[in-house]
Amino acid sequence: MLRLQSAARNSTEWFENIERYLHLDPVQFNYSLLTRSQRISHENLRVRDKAWLEEQATSEKPRHSRPPMFTPFRLRDLRLKNRIVVSPMDQYRAIDGTPTDWHLVHYAERAKGGAGLVITEMTCVSPEGRISPGCTGLYAHEHEAAWKRIVDFVHAETDARIGMQLGHSGPKGSTQLGWETMDAPLPDDNWPVIGPSPVAWSPHNQVPREMTRADMDLVRDEFVWAAEMAARAGFDLLEVHCAHGYLLSAFITPLTNRRTDAYGGSLENRMRFPLEVYHAVRAVWPPAKPISVRISANDWVGEDGITPEDAVEIARLLGDAGADIINVSAGQTSMRARPVYGRMFQTPFSDRIRNETGIATMAVGNIYEPDHVNSILMAGRADLCCLARPHLADPYWTLHAAAQLGYRGETWPKPYLAGRDQLHRVASRSDASGIKV
Ligand SMILES: Cc1cc2nc3c(=O)[nH]c(=O)nc-3n(C[C@H](O)[C@H](O)[C@H](O)COP(=O)(O)O)c2cc1C
Repeated sequence: MLRLQSAARNSTEWFENIERYLHLDPVQFNYSLLTRSQRISHENLRVRDKAWLEEQATSEKPRHSRPPMFTPFRLRDLRLKNRIVVSPMDQYRAIDGTPTDWHLVHYAERAKGGAGLVITEMTCVSPEGRISPGCTGLYAHEHEAAWKRIVDFVHAETDARIGMQLGHSGPKGSTQLGWETMDAPLPDDNWPVIGPSPVAWSPHNQVPREMTRADMDLVRDEFVWAAEMAARAGFDLLEVHCAHGYLLSAFITPLTNRRTDAYGGSLENRMRFPLEVYHAVRAVWPPAKPISVRISANDWVGEDGITPEDAVEIARLLGDAGADIINVSAGQTSMRARPVYGRMFQTPFSDRIRNETGIATMAVGNIYEPDHVNSILMAGRADLCCLARPHLADPYWTLHAAAQLGYRGETWPKPYLAGRDQLHRVASRSDASGIKV
């Protein structure tokens, strides 16, 4: 019943906002119309009309049988071999901010696994800016050296690219590891936390100290120093974390920003400090390399918080500032949130931002089948798809997807070629498309 309601809501929204899609070419417009509920997928369309999909839906045309997810994508001088992104995922395994062998193996495996872009976990710009004692940092020389080792491996041994996500935990800092009690304060040795306003994450968390202008200067400079280290370490992309209730996100949402100065009140004012950080970081980040900004496109609390409509405005302000792509996440900004989960549940926010502003987007959230990715891309709902949990379960998700779709154009690491051949042989014997009509 909930699935039906969700499909009906997506469909109604499509028709109510049809002008959003009028710029699409007729074939893509048609594709978007047919898949508007998110229940009819790419493979469903193939079953219904194979000739139309392969002849009309142009992305498969130039190189027959290249599924949309394997088309390259460009941002500034960064060329990604495909549209799959390993979404940022905190590993809580760092020692005093330094990535360890765990991180080398973790990121290396995912880069070997076929994704076009691997984005690191939120890496913190100061010790106080960490979420937990296990978070990685970029505020000491040893951090830079440890990250460089990881980046060098990815570049030497794979054709994946690697992005660095930078963040500051703000009011959600000084908390336990992800598999302990999430977002709860440490049993002892808590460090003081800061935020736009003295609004605690929950009754159990510390009340953050309201930031002064001097605090803002310091945090902005910490982002700059971290971005400089990331550039020296050789990262291909930078992502500024403005989502999930951490410091920059806490400025954006009115739920945690109660300031009465130039940094609170209207959305423009609440965006002022995040944009200041963005500009400062952009000034030191190599011009040829892109910057992504991750946002929470919905606080899931109704009109009191950020709504998908506000998110379009947030994306527009970031786009005007020069952000190359918006990574469209949602939520984790309030204990009051009531998210509506489901397959690809955050993708409509990406669709809206991309088609109302023309800015490139990444979609994320419960995207777990190749068919989901192909449908999202073909309908123009996002430019890239981030998969988080699927990459915890399977670092080789992309290479497995290629085999499932019978696509041989992806590069496997040379020592693993025999495994590739067997996987493709086995996949070709079964109907692996996973079609459910
Ligand atoms: C273990 C874990 C750690 C995460 N850490 C981060 C993080 O450091 N930064 C971030 O922006 N999102 C983080 N996320 C959120 C994911 O990037 C992603 O947005 C979310 O899991 C939804 O995608 P999925 O349905 O593919 O898992 C984390 C998610 C998981 C499961």
